[in-house]
Amino acid sequence: MSDKSEALRRILSAAPVVPVLTIEDRAVAVPLARALVAGGLTALEVTLRTAAGIDCIRAIAGEVEGANIGAGTVLDARQYEAAAACGAKFVVSPGAPPSLVAAAAASPVPFLPGVATAGEAMTLAEAGYRVLKFFPAEPAGGIDYLRALSAPLPAISFCPTGGITLKNAPAYLALANVICVGGSWVAPPALLASGDWEKVTSLAREASRLTAA
Ligand code: 3PG
Repeated sequence: MSDKSEALRRILSAAPVVPVLTIEDRAVAVPLARALVAGGLTALEVTLRTAAGIDCIRAIAGEVEGANIGAGTVLDARQYEAAAACGAKFVVSPGAPPSLVAAAAASPVPFLPGVATAGEAMTLAEAGYRVLKFFPAEPAGGIDYLRALSAPLPAISFCPTGGITLKNAPAYLALANVICVGGSWVAPPALLASGDWEKVTSLAREASRLTAA
């Protein structure tokens, strides 16, 4: 296994859930990340869907001890490089066009590329990937689809994301080919707006204790 793959596996296997964070207000990034880490969730994905995304990643990378900050919704090589330059420890995308795979190969920062089909997973396996994001998990076939992939593709592990909840996460975590799940439920916009970090920590703690069911 390459150093990059090993680093990614270590980051993703530290807790059962990776919070997916879309932050509008840069000022909430650090307290939000601290609240999540305090609840036991250390791998955090901040999406680049907002103008504040890159600044949030830089702030968390510099100020939040114990966080492994990742950049999500990375769509092109320019964004990949920007994420790496501001301290992202991993990069996540909804898909894996060749230009992004090339950017990942040229970067020291590990890549968690998104797939939704067996063919896409096989293409990335050929390129050396063994850990993939399954996205959008629920609409793309959910638990049954992932379970079906484990027979022909036993060497590939997935982080399903998209439609995962506190309720359905344990069934995903029970699959042999699931390393962790991603989800936004631990950081609902209303709590970010009100700055209720204790409640975020309590949601994170509940998520960090999830086990397979
Ligand atoms: C997303 O698309 O924002 C992520 O996959 C998280 O999805 P979720 O909001 O359904 O958890």
